[in-house]
Amino acid sequence: MSKQKTNCVGILTAGGDCPGLNAAIRGVGKAAMGYGIEIIGIYDGFRGLVENRSHVMGRDDFSGILATGGTVLGTSRDKPHKMRIGPGQEVDMTEAAVQNYERLHLDCLVCLGGNGTQKNALHLAKAGGLNVMTIPKTIDNDVIGTDITFGYDTAVSIATNAIDRLHSTAESHRRVMVVELMGHKTGWLTLGAGIAGGADVILIPEIPYDMEAVAECVVSRDRRGKRFSIIAVAEGAVPKGAAMAGEGERSKKGKKGKGDGAKAVSDEIVPGAASALVAAELERLTGIEVRVTVLGYVQRGGAPTPQDRLLATKLGAKAAELLAEGTYGVMVAVRGEGCEAAPLEDVAGQLKLVPEHHPLVDAARGIGVCLGE
Ligand code: F6P
Repeated sequence: MSKQKTNCVGILTAGGDCPGLNAAIRGVGKAAMGYGIEIIGIYDGFRGLVENRSHVMGRDDFSGILATGGTVLGTSRDKPHKMRIGPGQEVDMTEAAVQNYERLHLDCLVCLGGNGTQKNALHLAKAGGLNVMTIPKTIDNDVIGTDITFGYDTAVSIATNAIDRLHSTAESHRRVMVVELMGHKTGWLTLGAGIAGGADVILIPEIPYDMEAVAECVVSRDRRGKRFSIIAVAEGAVPKGAAMAGEGERSKKGKKGKGDGAKAVSDEIVPGAASALVAAELERLTGIEVRVTVLGYVQRGGAPTPQDRLLATKLGAKAAELLAEGTYGVMVAVRGEGCEAAPLEDVAGQLKLVPEHHPLVDAARGIGVCLGE
């Protein structure tokens, strides 16, 4: 963490979009204006920085965006040090990013993003000597060092609503419904929406599942006269004995995490693969009719919930406060009711997994939800 006077900052959104990004941009912008800090909006994540595409943001840019989905700045998954320039071609554009940072006379670059963004921002700080600050966001809620990320509450709400709706059609047809949720390599979203939506089985990456146990749960419900079962499957869920993330057939590349709670992280997930596997195995073992619903991008589209608007606004305002006092090299983290600065070094490159005895996991077990154990 370093301290100096802040006059002008760049702001960008990177990685997958999520509800609440615009509320956070608005929060940073409005609060920064109060400190007399100029804000330059950089388009399409780190690609915009490398390509020097930006504009000075004024009061109007921060107006009318609180309740809107997506990001007014655009986003991309491009990394400054591995910028795609053609099919299969990547080049290190760190130097271009540094030059444009200097050209824009930035005192700090504020990056709104998930795990990849924490790493990319730290890279620019270390390799390029830039002042950086990050604000964590993702529907996956898998950023370490913060209690929660904005986007998560909205995604839980959308997915819960979808699971609610699956109940009536499942019951009418006497079917098993397998519903696949996003979450990358963690099960926060599936656990949250699965419990809130009353799923009978919840399968998350942190607890590799035993297909026999899942089948037994479904068969026993059928025997008890239950006309349906709902199975919530995280896109990263794996059967017991399957390869770890980064080594399995559904994941192509793996990277080693560091520290407690960290795990091998893969960037590649094939949407629909986890649910297809569960459905096929279940039909084979039980003979009961199974249908699959992959929720996909609806989970991160549209307006943020009030809770995510509050969270994003709090984080944005805190970011501006930290910028005004010249605190850089940090992620603005949620801690309890408030927000505080966490050294970026301590969070970048890690993944927040669902602990084995998280209160929600214990609650699910307690009420008889099958976790595939
Ligand atoms: O990280 C957010 C997320 O929505 C994950 O849940 C999902 O695995 C991934 O992004 C999808 O990525 P993309 O937008 O690149 O398809």
